[in-house]
Formats: sequence, structure tokens, C-alpha cells
Amino acid sequence: MGETDIKDIKKGLDGVVADYTAVSKVNPDTNSLLYRGYPVQELAARKSFEEVALLLWTGELPSADELAEFTAFERSHRAMEANVKAAIDLLPLTCHPMDVARTAVSVLGANHPLAEDSSREAELSKAKSLLAQFPAAVAYDQRRRRGQEPVEPREDLDYSQNFLWMTFGEEAAPAVVDAFRVSMVLYAEHSFNASTFTARVITSTLSDLHSAVVGAIGALKGPLHGGANEAVMHTFEEIGIRKDESRAEAATRAKAWMEDALAQKKKVMGFGHRVYKKGDSRVPTMKSALDAMIEHFGRDEMLGLYDGLEQAMGEAKNIKPNLDYPAGPTYHLMGFDTQMFTPLFIASRITGWTSHIMEQRAANSLIRPLSEYNGPDERHL
Ligand code: SDX
Repeated sequence: MGETDIKDIKKGLDGVVADYTAVSKVNPDTNSLLYRGYPVQELAARKSFEEVALLLWTGELPSADELAEFTAFERSHRAMEANVKAAIDLLPLTCHPMDVARTAVSVLGANHPLAEDSSREAELSKAKSLLAQFPAAVAYDQRRRRGQEPVEPREDLDYSQNFLWMTFGEEAAPAVVDAFRVSMVLYAEHSFNASTFTARVITSTLSDLHSAVVGAIGALKGPLHGGANEAVMHTFEEIGIRKDESRAEAATRAKAWMEDALAQKKKVMGFGHRVYKKGDSRVPTMKSALDAMIEHFGRDEMLGLYDGLEQAMGEAKNIKPNLDYPAGPTYHLMGFDTQMFTPLFIASRITGWTSHIMEQRAANSLIRPLSEYNGPDERHL
């Protein structure tokens, strides 16, 4: 008999309930997502990313004083530490920005005076520092890939305004800032997804918060997970983006591309989800943000590509888009390089990951599943 006589192995832990969580509720039956009980659509419509971060970490929306205290901390801790910039400068421009992001978090962990302190107070402090300091690393990496000098953060701007300021060196239009804010709120948290569960596994050994986040970044990089938003844009680029093309013509080309891809049994990123089978609850809200960017920049052909791919996938396999599908083109229209999209996902998901790290630590049990041996029978030298 192997480690277990249970034969119903759940590959990919599909359908396996591994633990309780109070952080968020994903409900595929009602196609809904709650962050600490609040529908994500309401939060995306009415709350800042800073407020949502505090909600995820503490379980409650902040009072005015709590928000003011966190805002002051976050705005005064945005500058990139010298050795973070030095570490990034050691990395070749040919490496993926997710590798830069992973490295930056490692250095931030090495720098933090409370790195090895796993008390709730220390973990919350590290989570707040990480949220504040990570955008500068992403913005710097984006700019160095364009041969541009880094832009210093500004304390008079909110989180989203400052992220865009540091990246592009100019104040973004309010419509662009709001679309970015919506993406940060929607990407923040999603129960036991692969990267969050990775963070919980690492935390369950009593390792430190930054190690758990670095591991989560590794998981998020994959195109079956967070890397999908970058892959969506590669699909659009492969079909060809023609700025003056009509919406109808773009849709026709996109449909043809999808039909060919599916005929070749390709997996098209941005579609499908392990939990949602009737559609990702976040997509309508993110699609509205994309529509706002398409209108703001006058890029109707992007809507044609979006609609064409979605229609063809729906007709062929009845598979719906996930959050990464509208998020990719939204970030493209904002001006981010395609490879920078998943680091933006990190910036937001730091809140969800660190909330789960704190929850795991508060009621920990080492995560160590069983396996059923199917190798050679016992044999001897
Ligand atoms: C995220 O878990 C989370 O919550 C993640 C996330 C979060 O917020 O953290 O929501 C973020 O990661 C969203 C997902 C981003 N990934 C992609 O867009 C990658 C493309 N999607 C697929 O690889 C797939 O849908 C998964 C991996 C997301 C989920 O796949 P499952 O549940 O393991 O199901 P499966 O891959 O076995 O697919 C079932 C069937 C298969 O057909 P058959 O082989 O049985 O004929 O559906 C097909 C698949 O081929 N299918 C697809 C497809 N997704 C599923 N076919 C083509 N293109 C796709 N995208």
C-alpha cells in the first residue's frame, strides 16, 4: 500500500477545499466575488486601492483617521532604496520584468528590519512597506527598458496617480488614473489561486513574508495564471493592431485568428478559469474600464479585436473571458510595454497575498499533501 489507500487523486487539486479563508469569497454559482463580504464591483466603483488594501489586511474598511495614517505612511515610503536600484541594474534588459520584480522583493526583504519578525504587527508593517515600495521598482524597470532615467515619486499624488507618474514622467489623465485604480482593485484578491496558495504553502513552514511573496511571484509569472494578461496582448499583436481599421474589419480578422488557433488545439490565454465556468465576475467591471480607455484614446479597432476573439471562443467552446482578457489591452492603451503587465498584477496582488500570509500564520498547519507512488516496485542493489 502507498502513502495512502485513497485512489481519487485530484490532479491540480481541482475541486479540493484546502482550508477556510475569511479574506474573499469566490462564488461560481452566483458569479460573484466578495472581499471581506463586500462585492468587488461596489469596491471598484467607490473605493480607492488604498482603502481596499486596508480592508483586505484588517477585515474592515478604514476610518478617516486610519486611512489618513496609512496614506501618509504609503506616500512617504515610495522611494526606491539604493540597493534595490543597484540590484535591478545588475539584471540584463533581456530578462523578463517578472524576474526583476522577484529580485526587487528579495532585496526589499533583505533590507527590512523586521524581516524575521512574524508577529502580526510586523507582518502588517512589511505588507504596507511592500505595497508602497514595489511600484518604484516596476516603474524604474519600465523606464530603463526605454533608455529613460527614473522619475522620483511624488507625495502629492495618490497611489494610482503616482504609479503612472513614476512610469511615464507625466501626470495621467483622470480617466486613465481611474481605469488603473479599477484594475488594482480587481486584481487584488481571489481566494486560493495558484500564487496565493503558493504563498500559503511557504508561510506554513514558518518562513518569512518576503520569501512567500517571492514564491508567489514565481507562480504568478506562468501564462496559465498571471502571465495571461501579457499573453493576451501578444495575441492582439499577432493578429495585428491597425489603428485606423474599422471595428468590423478588426473583428473579422480576430475571429479568423481564433478559429485557426482552436483548430490547432491551441490554448488561448485570457479565456477560461478553474473556478468560474459561467464567466469571471470581474470581467464586466474591467471591460468598462477598457471601454473608457478605448474611448479616451480613440482606438475603436481594439474593440473589434476584443469582440472578435470573444465571439469566436464562445461559439467554438463556450469558454468565457477571465480578468486578464480586458486587463491586457487596457494596460496597452495606457502605454505600458506588454511584458510589464504581470508586474502590475503583482503590485495589486501584494495585498491579497499578504492578507493570506497573515491568515495562514494566525492558524497555521504545515501544508503537506500526500502522493500515491507509481514508480518501480521495491528492488535491491
Ligand atoms: C488567473 O485561480 C484564479 O483565481 C486565478 C486568477 C486570479 O485572480 O488569481 O483568476 C487569475 O490566473 C485567470 C486565468 C488566466 N489564465 C489563462 O487565461 C490561461 C488560459 N486558460 C486555461 O489555461 C484554463 O482555462 C485554466 C488553466 C485557467 C483553467 O483550466 P482548467 O480548469 O484546468 O481546465 P482545463 O485547462 O482542463 O480546460 C478544460 C477544457 C479543455 O478542453 P479539453 O482538452 O477537455 O477538450 O477547456 C479547454 C481545455 O482545452 N480550455 C481552453 C482554454 N481554457 C480551457 N481551450 C482553449 N483556450 C483556453 N483558454
